[in-house]
Amino acid sequence: MTTLPPTMFAITLVQDGYSGEATGPYIDNVGDWLAEAELPVPQPGPGQVLIKLRAASVNPSDLHFIKGEYGQPRVKGAAAGFEGCGDVVATGTGAEALQDQRVAFVTAGSGAWAEYVLAPAIMCIPLRPEISDEDGAGQIVNPLTAMAMVDIARADGDAFVVSAATSQLGKLMCRLGRDLGLKPIALVRRPEALDMLRDSGAVEVLLTTDPNVLQSFAKVSQELKPRVFLDAVADQLSEQIFCAMPNRARWISYGKLSNELPTLTQTGQLIFMGKQIEGFWLTNWLTSTSPADQARVVAEVQARFSDGRWKTDISEKLSLRDVVGNLTEALKKIDGKVIITP
Ligand SMILES: NC(=O)c1ccc[n+]([C@@H]2O[C@H](COP(=O)([O-])OP(=O)(O)OC[C@H]3O[C@@H](n4cnc5c(N)ncnc54)[C@H](OP(=O)(O)O)[C@@H]3O)[C@@H](O)[C@H]2O)c1
Repeated sequence: MTTLPPTMFAITLVQDGYSGEATGPYIDNVGDWLAEAELPVPQPGPGQVLIKLRAASVNPSDLHFIKGEYGQPRVKGAAAGFEGCGDVVATGTGAEALQDQRVAFVTAGSGAWAEYVLAPAIMCIPLRPEISDEDGAGQIVNPLTAMAMVDIARADGDAFVVSAATSQLGKLMCRLGRDLGLKPIALVRRPEALDMLRDSGAVEVLLTTDPNVLQSFAKVSQELKPRVFLDAVADQLSEQIFCAMPNRARWISYGKLSNELPTLTQTGQLIFMGKQIEGFWLTNWLTSTSPADQARVVAEVQARFSDGRWKTDISEKLSLRDVVGNLTEALKKIDGKVIITP
């Protein structure tokens, strides 16, 4: 049994609860939201494990949460961060099987940006040895969401639309779509990303900053008939893309990268064309999907990272002690995740 120190270094939340605002996953001054602290090392309760951190990822959900704009309230003074990977160093009753395993984890509240992390055993996945710590740090939230959402899309035909396709999740979905013989249509906002998305499996890539993007999309839509729009942006262009899709189209909102609030301009389409607007949240998928189906999806995710079909692009690595000073700058880098190490 590892001897544990009484305290640990952590990056903690400065504020409580919700902010009541929706300004998006962007941080100008990290010190407004996060602080450094020395906290007691937590003890695992029944069904919980204590993990010595190897790497944690910085996801848009972390940034929404830190600012009080996510679907769960903040707890002032608690460590930030939802997802990462590390070694199980202590277990509560019922979680003994995970002792000493290297696992990918998601925390129950927050707490991943600390030297030691408490997580429910059911939110831990033992990692295959060939998976790197960086890939392990982003092994649950985006990959499971990609698998779940592409499953939803393929039930409605072979073509589907993906916005913010340069995101880690967007690239995973395009690669998965290609592997399954589907036709992902990618929306990107940077011209330099067009080729990258074609290489990642998109059959069509459209530039959202092109003034003719809607005409281009209408042509593609008429030809490929996408019925599902997997949208992480949710701005006015998203609404217009949805309006240009064929009857029975579904606009599935799963992120809010833009802080623009879109207006519905053609509500008649919901009535006369059978179109639908809905949401997707992995947390709900996890509670509504059988353990057998989840195990199948988790095995497929690890197989994809093990053989290189999927990978995590890293833009910057920061140690915990550099987060408050350097996270704002690190997040300005494009095409990859910021990874936090102890
Ligand atoms: N609902 C769920 O269960 C669930 C689960 C996982 C993730 N998500 C959501 O999925 C999205 C992607 O997550 P991720 O971790 O893959 O992100 P990521 O790798 O951190 O990438 C963020 C991406 O957002 C793009 N972006 C930022 N603001 C934008 C805007 N206003 N318009 C268009 N694109 C914009 C950036 O594009 P550039 O390359 O052009 O800078 C970047 O590619 C996030 O919204 C996240 O919250 C939701």
